[in-house]
Amino acid sequence: MTSPVAKAVIPAAGLGTRFLPATKAQPKEMLPLVDKPAIQYVVEEAVRAGIRDILIITGRNKRSLEDHFDRSFELEFYLEKAGKHDELKEVRAIAEMADIHYIRQGEPKGLGHAVSVARDHVGDAPFAVLLGDDIMAERVHALEDMLAAYERLGRSVIALKPVQPAEVGSYGCVRPEAVEPRVVKVLDIVEKPSPEEAPSNLAVIGRYVFTPSIFGALERVQPGRGGEIQLTDAIGLLLEEGVYGQIFEGGRYDTGNKLDYLRATVELALERPDLGPELRRFLDDLLGRGGGTGES
Ligand code: UTP
Repeated sequence: MTSPVAKAVIPAAGLGTRFLPATKAQPKEMLPLVDKPAIQYVVEEAVRAGIRDILIITGRNKRSLEDHFDRSFELEFYLEKAGKHDELKEVRAIAEMADIHYIRQGEPKGLGHAVSVARDHVGDAPFAVLLGDDIMAERVHALEDMLAAYERLGRSVIALKPVQPAEVGSYGCVRPEAVEPRVVKVLDIVEKPSPEEAPSNLAVIGRYVFTPSIFGALERVQPGRGGEIQLTDAIGLLLEEGVYGQIFEGGRYDTGNKLDYLRATVELALERPDLGPELRRFLDDLLGRGGGTGES
């Protein structure tokens, strides 16, 4: 059976101030993890889950993003002439893997506002949202599990991750009620609570499957600091309709955060057969020398 969720929205219009100066002239979603920009992992995740219609919400500096998912005839011509057939195949596959559309957010008025500009493209149907700087390891099957939960429960499903008490203040945090293994009903949601106020240690991470009611909820949200529309506030209003959370334990990286970006680079490279064994030897050697520079 084909999933009722045919479209995905990838917000990629944030300013990326946590990753300056790298994000001064390029979106953080274009920073490479090993040899692919972060957003390519996200598009591949949507395609693996069966979604081919993808809308990317762009901000300033959108050109590199559009160029990345477009054909590059000049490059293809040179790769063909040089007999670099594997590279040619890879470059072509990027442009062919999905139908990618773009829309400008205009002003970076928050994640909720970024999602609201997708309304006309999405129409009156459920859809997925994948944050362009949040990477989920392939083995986690995050979006696939959430689409299955949406089909069973018929309500919006958000991704959750258990975090340390000291970390809850960086996330939206939920009050859960157990429903199924790894699935909870969301009873309340709070944006960036203090450890004392946090209703649990379950934090919202960058994957969502929404019913179209989210657009009405976003319209009702009052702008907060700096005129930003918070997606968390709209999810709070959606609780009337019912919202579920799917819990994922590991394999998630916030590549807009420098330390998580480094973790993602190392872990993804270690999993690669072409790079992993040599990188492991290098790291063993480096750390075996007491964390020095590796130079003798
Ligand atoms: P972040 O919360 O990481 O915001 O956005 P940011 O502004 O890009 O990052 P910092 O804090 O300044 O470093 C989460 C996701 O929502 C998108 C971002 O591109 C990212 O994928 N976003 C955020 C938008 O598309 N528009 C916005 O106005 C804000």
